Amino acid sequence: MIVAQAPGRINLIGEHTDYNLGFAMPIALEQRTTVRFEPDESDRITLESDHETGTSSFRIDVKPGDVDGWAAYPAGVVWASKQAGLRVVGGTMSISSDVPIGAGLSSSAALECAVLLAINAATDQDMGTLDAARIAQRAENDFVGAPTGLMDQLASLNGEADRALLIDFETSEVTPVDFDLASSGLALLVVNSNAAHQHSTGEYASRRESCTRAAAILGVDSLREVQGLDVLDRISDDTDRRRVRHILTENERVLDCGVALTAGGFRRVGDLMTLSHASMRDDFEITTPHIDLIADSAVRHGALGARMTGGGFGGCVIALVRTAALASVTRAIEEDIANAGYPVPTIFTARAGAGAAVLS
Ligand code: GLA
Repeated sequence: MIVAQAPGRINLIGEHTDYNLGFAMPIALEQRTTVRFEPDESDRITLESDHETGTSSFRIDVKPGDVDGWAAYPAGVVWASKQAGLRVVGGTMSISSDVPIGAGLSSSAALECAVLLAINAATDQDMGTLDAARIAQRAENDFVGAPTGLMDQLASLNGEADRALLIDFETSEVTPVDFDLASSGLALLVVNSNAAHQHSTGEYASRRESCTRAAAILGVDSLREVQGLDVLDRISDDTDRRRVRHILTENERVLDCGVALTAGGFRRVGDLMTLSHASMRDDFEITTPHIDLIADSAVRHGALGARMTGGGFGGCVIALVRTAALASVTRAIEEDIANAGYPVPTIFTARAGAGAAVLS
């Protein structure tokens, strides 16, 4: 029996920058997905999950379109592995997870990465985290059909306890940065709005299209090549101009955040988070009134900063809060959400956890 685990992630700052070859700074979560894989001689993989009743099964020569629903993620990893020339064996995978699903915390990347590690362990194949991340991303892009970037998989595979990961998506370099909030009397509060993502796939794709269109107008392959905000005058479409402004300013915020974290400048980190939220709300337009209310409430009641994390249109808000103020800030946010008539949130604190691994 092979046991492989991969965590979800929280992105501290740098949203929608990955597919623009910019910068982001995620942490891996302590919450993770576990795959227990019993290989056999068959040509099928059977899936059992603690979130589903019954089993799903597919042949190891599965093709895009053959499998849908949550089983498309493991099936996509099998397909992408074979496309990459890897060997895949049949067997039974029992999957369990404590990564909240549909909350913008990358439960899908956790599933993909855990499945990939289990397959590789069963066949004695070894690969670096970048190659593994690309296979998992291909599963999501070309099998599941979500045009996502590489951040979630890189975070899940490279996570380190008490460290954030400064990722440069042009070089794919991952630089760990100290993120031991507890020793500075701080905590990362996570407010899961419990709002279902609305049209998130279509909206995500349309944001990506805006960026591609603007890059073409500016004559560059990616927005990473663009320096300074002067170029915005060359984009006549107001919406596309604001999308680009978000990407350019967000990249700067990620780098500033790296500097501030290294210097222990948590007030600045908080301010950058709040500025990032405003940019996602006003320029990239990926927040919702519900999410904005939670972020505003956190800051109004004493958080150093707060922002939505993840692809957008629901999911979680993260807030940097002094440990001493955790209880009062939490209570105040709960009250504001209830007064506005939104669903009861799930609130917890998160720490940076270790990356994906094969346990046995
Ligand atoms: C989702 C995608 C990532 C990234 C974020 C936004 O999580 O999977 O690739 O684009 O949205 O930053």
